[in-house]
This record gives sequence, structure tokens and C-alpha cells, in this order.
Amino acid sequence: MRRVIIDTDTAGDDTIALLTTLHHFKVEGVTITGGNVAFNQEVENALYTIQVAALEEKVPVYKGLERPLNAVGMTAHRTVEDVHGKDGMGGAFFDSATQRPETTHAVDFIIETIRKNPGEIELLAIAPLTNIAMAFQKDPGIIPLIAHVYVMGGTNNSLGNITAAAEYNFWVDPEAANIVLQSGVPVTMVGWDMCVAYSVMDEEDHREIEDLNTTGSRFFTAVNKVVRQFNKEVHRLPGTTHPDTLLTAIAADESIMTESHPYYVEVETQGRLTRGYSMVDINNRSGCQPNVRVCEAVDREKYKQTLIRVLSSIE
Ligand code: BDR
Ligand code: CA
Repeated sequence: MRRVIIDTDTAGDDTIALLTTLHHFKVEGVTITGGNVAFNQEVENALYTIQVAALEEKVPVYKGLERPLNAVGMTAHRTVEDVHGKDGMGGAFFDSATQRPETTHAVDFIIETIRKNPGEIELLAIAPLTNIAMAFQKDPGIIPLIAHVYVMGGTNNSLGNITAAAEYNFWVDPEAANIVLQSGVPVTMVGWDMCVAYSVMDEEDHREIEDLNTTGSRFFTAVNKVVRQFNKEVHRLPGTTHPDTLLTAIAADESIMTESHPYYVEVETQGRLTRGYSMVDINNRSGCQPNVRVCEAVDREKYKQTLIRVLSSIE
């Protein structure tokens, strides 16, 4: 079984991505980065989601960095309770899980796990890239020891979601995104535009999922309650978006990604209007070596069936 560390700012779609990951991989650990909602709430959300999966083996959760690398003096990090609910769980306010977080720092856990298992560990990054970038800065020697990094972040030169130009994960920590993308590690990127084009679950999809009537499907319905409304009003989308789940489904089964190309990608860190924008150099105008495999199309039905299988399996 492939072995992964998943780095998450657990709220909303992160929870379903986490279930998808627990279903397909041996998860060495879950590391938490500051992002979607209050940091300690994200930690609780990850622990609760692991409890929902009801696995026999313990999956440890490690607390990482609460703030982006350059939080001081630059664009303030903003949480998005308006998207995922005050608790990040669609307003369900679940009880605390019995499992507690580990005492080792997430960055140290990432470094130690990669060092102990050279060439074995894949990283699934569904949050701002703060923890992973910090691990790369603290111990650059781990970079060639990583099998692959799958990143949910950026867009393929399309519109963003947190600003007109930027996708949330790259906007929160564009410096961290550049550290990871420029590091030489093999990266696959799934951007917000892929999520809008292929991951949206409309009202009919939601009814189909509700009809599964499993613990997994009820959890899905609950955590998506707020985003279901938010997406209609703000993004004018016909349903809920699942960027993180799409990323983890692609990592588990690459045939879900029907088109991808290697491009040079760099994230804007300076622009007044464009901070966090991911420049995907499709026509190689920069002459720079491609550094990222960018997802450009998805088999939506295959993706949806993966999601349904995961939710059905949690009885
Ligand atoms: C990304 O930002 C977060 O709100 C989501 O969990 C996802 O990782 C989408 O832009
Ligand atoms: Ca996320």
C-alpha cells in the first residue's frame, strides 16, 4: 500500500479528502496547517474525521504552523468560516473525538518520517503549503527523498476564489508555495479551475449521496451544509465544490486525471492585486524548465464514483 502524509487545514472538503485518503492509502500521519478556520478547530475536525472513518489502526495527528511563513507585515491570513461554517464542519458542531493530537511538531514529524523512509513517502497537500515549505527549509536533504507531492492549489491562469486572481491555499502562503514548487521535488498540481469544472456536486448528486444512507454519506451532507448555500450565492455555482477530494482521488487513481502537462509555474508574491496568483507558463515564454505537472482535465464520472465508493464504505 502506498504511504502518505496528508497536510490539511481541516474544514469542509478537507474532511472528505481525508476520508478518501484513509480509504486508499496507509496514512503515516495527518499534519495540520493554519488555513480555513481557527487552528485548534482544524485539529479537532481532523481528529473527528478520523473517528468517523473508524479504522482499526490509529492515525496520528500533528499540529503544525498556525500562520503563513511571512505573516508579519504582509497580507493577513484570513479564515473562511463564511465558506465552511463557524466550526468548519457546516455548523454541525460535533463532539470532540477521543483521540488527542501528538506532541511532536508537524514539521519535525514530516522530516523524520521522510528521513526514515527514503523514496517511500508521498505528500498530499490540501492546505497552504506552510508546513511542507518549513520542512524543506529546515532540512533540504529530505527533498530528493520524497516520492511525490500532490498539491491542491493555484489555478491554470484562471480566476481565483479568495481574490479575483488567487486561489486560497496559494494566497494564504505564496512564499511557501514557491518554496515547494521551485524545490525540484516532483509536483502534481490540481487548481481551483479544475475543481469548478469537474468536482461540483449539484442537488441531484447530493440526493444520490443522501440515498446511500451511510455514516459516510450523512457526514458528507452535514459538513457541506454551509458551502452548499455559499457557492450558490457567491460563486454562482450549481452545487458544492470539492477541490481537496478531487486532489486526493487523483493521487489514489491517476487515471481520473485525463490530461496533464509539465509547465513552469511560479506564484506571484508582490502584486497588489495579484498576490497568490499562480502563473502557469503554458507557452514557455519564460524559457524556464517545467517544474510542475499541471492537471488540465478530469474524468468527472470516475471521480464521482470514487467519492461514492468512499462514502458507501463508511457504514
Ligand atoms: C482550497 O482552500 C480551502 O478552502 C479548501 O479546503 C481548499 O484546500 C480551495 O481553494
Ligand atoms: Ca484545504
